[in-house]
Parts: sequence; C-alpha cells; structure tokens
Amino acid sequence: MNICVIGTGFVGVVSAAVYASFGHTVVGLDIDPNRIEKLKQGSVPFFEPGLTELLLEQQKTGHLTFTTHYQEAVPSAEIIIVVVGTPSTAEGQVNLTYLYAACESLAPYLAEDSIVVIKSTVPPGTLPDVKKFLIERTKHHKFGLAALPEFLKEGTAVQDTLHPDRIIIGATEPEVFAKLEKLHQPLHAQIIKLSPASAQMAKYASNAYLATRITFINQIADLCEKNGADILEVIQGMSLDQRIGAQYWYPGLGYGGSCFPKDVKELAAYSRSVGLADNLLNDLDYLNEVRIPRLFNTYKKLVGGWTGKKVAVLGLSFKPNTDDIRDAPSIKVIQLLLNEGAEVIGYDPKATENIKLFLAQTEHLTYAASLDQAVKDADVIIALIEWPEIIKYDFTQHRRKDVPQWIIDTRNQLNRQILTAAGYRYIGVGR
Ligand code: UGA
Repeated sequence: MNICVIGTGFVGVVSAAVYASFGHTVVGLDIDPNRIEKLKQGSVPFFEPGLTELLLEQQKTGHLTFTTHYQEAVPSAEIIIVVVGTPSTAEGQVNLTYLYAACESLAPYLAEDSIVVIKSTVPPGTLPDVKKFLIERTKHHKFGLAALPEFLKEGTAVQDTLHPDRIIIGATEPEVFAKLEKLHQPLHAQIIKLSPASAQMAKYASNAYLATRITFINQIADLCEKNGADILEVIQGMSLDQRIGAQYWYPGLGYGGSCFPKDVKELAAYSRSVGLADNLLNDLDYLNEVRIPRLFNTYKKLVGGWTGKKVAVLGLSFKPNTDDIRDAPSIKVIQLLLNEGAEVIGYDPKATENIKLFLAQTEHLTYAASLDQAVKDADVIIALIEWPEIIKYDFTQHRRKDVPQWIIDTRNQLNRQILTAAGYRYIGVGR
C-alpha cells in the first residue's frame, strides 16, 4: 500500500517506520523543513529508544521517505494518516488548528477511494466536521474517513507500536474497516471496530482513567504519610484483587508529559461544553496542578528551608527514556527551588539541552555532565525521574560526615535501607 503520514512528531515517525517495516511504501510529511531534512539524513529529532535503527533500516530498503510537499505525497497515497499536534488552549479546549491546516493542504490532492485517517487525539464529533470540511475542498467526494487512536507511550514507543494491546478503528464504512484491518494484520493484535465517536471517547477515556488511577494512588500515598502505612505495601495488598491489578499506579509528583495533562483538561472542557460541568475531571486536573507545590511545602519543612541549600535535581525529562520535557516535574520543581533561594544543579541523561532552552538562565541554576558532578556537594538530592542510571547509582559515596543530607525519592525507586544506613535522611512518597 502507499501511505502518507502527516506530522513527524514521535507518533508520526514511529508509525511511518513501523508501516514501512511491513513492506508498505510510506512517505512522512511535515511542514517543518528542518525536521524533514534531519529525517532524510536518518536522524530522529528527539530521543526514542530503537527508533533511529528502525528509521535507518527502512530508509535503506527504500520503503520510507520524507517530504514537505503535499503534492508529492498525497496523490498516490491510498491511506493518509494525519497525526499532527492537538494542544489545548489556555481554557483547556482542544485546539484543532493544525488538524484543519493539514486537511486544507491535503484536500486538493486526495485521490479517489483513498482513506483519511485521523490519528491525532480529537474529541468525539470531530470526524463528521472533518468530513464536511474535506468535502468542501476535494474535487470528488469519494474518500473514506476513520479514527485510529494511538496508545503508544514515549520511551517504549517502538515496542508499544509493534506489540499493541489493541488496535481501535473508528469508522462507518465496511471498506474502510477492511483496509485498515489489513494494514494492521502483521501486528497480530486484537482489532476492535467501533464508531468514530466511540473510538475517540475510548482514547480520551483511557488516558483520563490512567490519570485518575495515578491521582487516586497519590491521594492514598498522602494518607499513608499520616498513619505510618507504606504505600508500596498498600499497593501490594490491593493489587492481587484481579479487578484492581498491579500495574500503573505508582505514586509520585503527579502525572506529566504531552498527553495526560492535556487530555484530562480537554475532556473536562468537552464535558463542560456538553453541559456536564460537575465532573471528576475538573478535580483531577486541579489536584495534579497543586501536587508539586503542596509536597514541596512539606519537603521545605523537612529539610529546614531551601535558602542557600545546594540541591541536585536528578531527572529533567517527564519520564525515563525520553528527552521530552513537556509538563516535566523538573520545570515546576526547579522554578520553585530557585524562588526559595536554593542553588540548583540539574542532571539528566538526555534532556538537559531541552531544559536549558526552556528555563531562564540564572547563576543559581547549573547543569552537571554526570551524576557524580551533580551529587558531589549536594545538601539535598531529589531523584525526580526513574532513569535506570539514577536508580542504580551509589549515592552513599557522597555522604559527608557530620552534616545532614537529604534524599527525596519522588518515585520510590531508591534503596531506603542502604541510604538511611549511610546516614541520609530519606524522604519517599507515601512511606
Ligand atoms: C500516555 C499513555 O500511557 C499512552 O497510552 C498514550 O498513548 C499516550 O499518553 C498518548 O496519549 O499519546 P506517555 O505520556 O508517553 O503515555 O507516558 P506514561 O508512561 O503513560 O506516563 C505519563 C505520566 O504518568 C508520567 O508523568 C509518569 O511519571 C506518570 N505515571 C505513570 C505515574 O505517576 N505513575 C505510574 O504508575 C505511571
């Protein structure tokens, strides 16, 4: 099949490379010439494990190419996958500007019987609007339309795409279902055929549910701190109930990244727009927003104030194995520490350059090239993100005699016994 993937963010590049690996001819399209130039040269413009290898492999076979020109990629494409950003506005509503800009550009070149697939996360009800928009701009009305929500996670994007829990196709016409089913056959995954609105609700609801699960366990963790219970033991005690399960509810500083905060806000805004203003989602967003300032208020008391303290902030990305800093806890944490008069030294295996560009420069904020350098003279060590390098690190070598030193383990990943035995004052979450 000839496929065009519009948008070369991490979902777009991963999808394009994976479809190419099935033997299809795939063109990745983006309006950003710098991004496309890099991709043409085999360079992925962000860090995603395994992606560069896959990209190079598929470019070598000739199955995967890149362009900035719609007229080059769209006329021959049987399937056009639109996976551009759908950020939220200041009020939390979804911003569909990029989606409609892509539809505007592709419409004149759309071949008869081709299928336009919306992979971007959009609210239910968007597909009929897109259809109308395209019909007004195409030379013919003979095209199919589908929603194909994405469920991959950053950091494991290639593996998630190759081994998905399910593929959801939202469409109305049998030919569209049949073609998209065929496209995904090599994955041997469970394929679910839904209406477009259900498919899009399933996407938003999955992210909102996972965000709820995290917020819930964060609240239970806070309660544990009031009564001496240990959240990890509590999770152990609850997880064996098969209705609950053991996955994906480890407490921390709240959820971040490019998806959960945005999708929860958008679903909350959507709920309000349809007259369901009283909903859990508004609270979810609020609780997540206030979590870092609230916890750091407690930490401030525990460490005796931040003024003049040397604080090592370890892990600047929003999660391990990515250089993505969108809604990363480091952003709020560093700004808060600087406001309180701390001397901050940041470290991340991959995301330092991105944070440097994002945060204002000040003499009170420096960056280390290694964990050793970051931790060496620190009064307080904050292990923010569970990068394997940080979890495995031997912090005891930097324990200074006769001075108090704290370790704040916001992902509960470090060895509390070893650290306390070495003389650190250990602070976890919910323990
Ligand atoms: C999330 C979803 O997990 C994907 O299924 C979805 O496709 C994607 O959003 C999307 O909509 O594009 P992602 O944002 O890459 O994926 O990252 P996650 O691994 O889900 O982590 C999100 C946030 O939740 C992170 O801040 C992470 O630290 C936090 N989290 C995760 C916890 O606090 N506790 C956990 O147990 C798990």
